Parts: sequence; structure tokens; C-alpha cells
Amino acid sequence: MSISTSVRHVAYNVFSSWQSLLVPRSIHLSRYLLHGEYEWQDPKSEDEVVNVTYIDKDGKRTPVRGKIGDNALYLAHRYGVEMEGACEASLACTTCHVYVLGEHGDKLPPSEEKEDDLLDMAPFLKENSRLGCQITLTKELEGLELQLPQATRNFYVDGHKPKPH
Ligand code: FES
Repeated sequence: MSISTSVRHVAYNVFSSWQSLLVPRSIHLSRYLLHGEYEWQDPKSEDEVVNVTYIDKDGKRTPVRGKIGDNALYLAHRYGVEMEGACEASLACTTCHVYVLGEHGDKLPPSEEKEDDLLDMAPFLKENSRLGCQITLTKELEGLELQLPQATRNFYVDGHKPKPH
């Protein structure tokens, strides 16, 4: 090995060592996703697809190809469905109020006390009312239909409308 080659070799090794200190080789972004970012990722395979239809207060249907693990509120935001979500899924409002149509209501985990307390304050409450931000898609929810009520009341922050992420 010539002197210039070995100098280059040493320089390359030093640079590589520093680079490996500065730039992690694998970055696991999923651990650092912000609220709603996961829902902007397309399903990676058909196995994880969960089809959902949102129905707005005027009866307009929006079919969506969701996936296992998607939050129904943030998925609605991705596809421009007007489910507000004023408290950004922190269980402090009812602006994500939805009706779960058909048999799918039985496939959801039962609501917890906090969700029930909030729903008691929601206008147009029905037996099949749930908070959209508390619905996480599973394969069992394939074909889920979520209908938005005629109106919601935002007692969390008057006038505050978070933008979709
Ligand atoms: S977004 Fe506020 S409770 Fe669901």
C-alpha cells in the first residue's frame, strides 16, 4: 500500500467512525410519530387494510382504506371528513362524536367511564354513540360505518379548531 493510499484509508476510517457517532444507522421513526402521523401512512399489505366509511351529517359517504391501528379521528382528518376533534384525542371534548352503525358497535371495546361521562354531554346522543378518537381500527372492524351527528358542541376551547396534521 502506498503512503497516499494508506493516508486516504486512515482518513476514511476516521471519517466513518465520526459519521457513525453522528448519524445513527437505523432510525425507528414509528416510536416518534406525532398524533395523527401514523394515519397518513398507507397500509403496507392487504392483510392490514380495514375499510371504513364515514357518513357526514348530510348523508355524504366517504369510503376510506384504513389500516389496523389507525385512530378513527385522525383517519377522518386525513380524508377531509369533518370530524373536529377539538381536544386532539385527550378525552376532554365531544367534538369527535360519531354513531357506530350496525353490528360493529359490539366489536368495539366497551367505553370507559370518562368517555361515557363526556358522551352524556354530547348533543344528539344515541345508543350507538361513541367518541371517534377512542376507536382504534382492528381487522374485526372491517366494513365499519361511522356517521357524524347533526352537530357537536365544543366546550373544550370555544372557537378552537385544530387543523388536521
Ligand atoms: S377529540 Fe376530544 S374527546 Fe375525542
